[in-house]
Amino acid sequence: MLNVRSGIIMGALSLVASASVAQADGKLALYCSAQEDWCQLMARSFEDATGIDVNMSRKSSGETFAQVKAESVNPKGDVWWGGTGDPHLQAAEENLTEAYVSPMRDQLHDWAISQATSANDKTIGIYSGALGYGYNTDLVAANNLPEPACWKDLLKPEYKGHVQMANPNSSGTAYTTLATMVQLFGEDEGFEFMKGLHANVNQYTKSGSAPIKAAARGENTIGIVFMHDAVKQAVSGFPIKVVAPCEGTGYEIGSMSIIAGARNMENAKIFYDWALSAEAQNLALQVNAFQVPSNTGAETSESAPDMSSITLIDYDFSKYGSSAERKRLLQKWDNDVSVLPQ
Ligand code: F6P
Repeated sequence: MLNVRSGIIMGALSLVASASVAQADGKLALYCSAQEDWCQLMARSFEDATGIDVNMSRKSSGETFAQVKAESVNPKGDVWWGGTGDPHLQAAEENLTEAYVSPMRDQLHDWAISQATSANDKTIGIYSGALGYGYNTDLVAANNLPEPACWKDLLKPEYKGHVQMANPNSSGTAYTTLATMVQLFGEDEGFEFMKGLHANVNQYTKSGSAPIKAAARGENTIGIVFMHDAVKQAVSGFPIKVVAPCEGTGYEIGSMSIIAGARNMENAKIFYDWALSAEAQNLALQVNAFQVPSNTGAETSESAPDMSSITLIDYDFSKYGSSAERKRLLQKWDNDVSVLPQ
């Protein structure tokens, strides 16, 4: 049902989105894999704009992929918004998501559209961000540790117990880390790196951004995360230094997909169009989400990591988002890395 407040917000939306919104009613089950506060704001703002009730649940990228796959005979989610692009691409390949060409597409950067075209329109880019790490400067000083600047610095024995990252099975951030090392150093050396890192890791978390939140609280020294997640802690006043590793780094194209067999398919498309609008993407600024938005008219915060000054690898999304390669790398990490003594 539309209400007065939604009418005002709707006025700010694009014509395309507004036209669909005017007919909207009902419910939407939103699976969200971006940061919790952004997920909540997107859900509330969409409800306000359309009167559609949103039932939002936040899980990490790999976990959401597993859930969508497990539910595929009886889908419960309508839209999967956010999270790294690799598992969205895997979902597309496994026909877990629905093809849709949004009329908003011509407002997007090429990198967002190429995510769609490589997946037969079953997913699309909504933001991008570079991988890196952040460290707690107070803890580095208190423990007389050198200031790390490169990926390989993290292998130094003095960092034992000081490094935290997520588990690549549950977390898209951590899978991006694994795939980045394989692309940056080659598969053999990349896995040697992951083994060396394992010796210094104090905990594998479920969620990708947890290691830098722990560093902000002083419970961990170095967190391997997307740089925008580290910037968020730094601008909140915590003693976090953000590092773009000297060897170069990988990045994500955060993505959105409509779940195949969605019960609320029309509402899923309305959300999809709305989420691609500059107005909806600008909501990120309210919650210090410092990813680069995919709509060319949306604003990027001045605090966001400057992608043009970071040495980015030519991340092969088609390969590392393919079902066979993602399964193979995760299996190899489980068998060869996670079981090693620490
Ligand atoms: O916290 C935001 C974010 O880093 C997104 O940029 C990214 O897509 C997502 O989290 C990945 O989360 P996870 O590693 O938990 O799957």
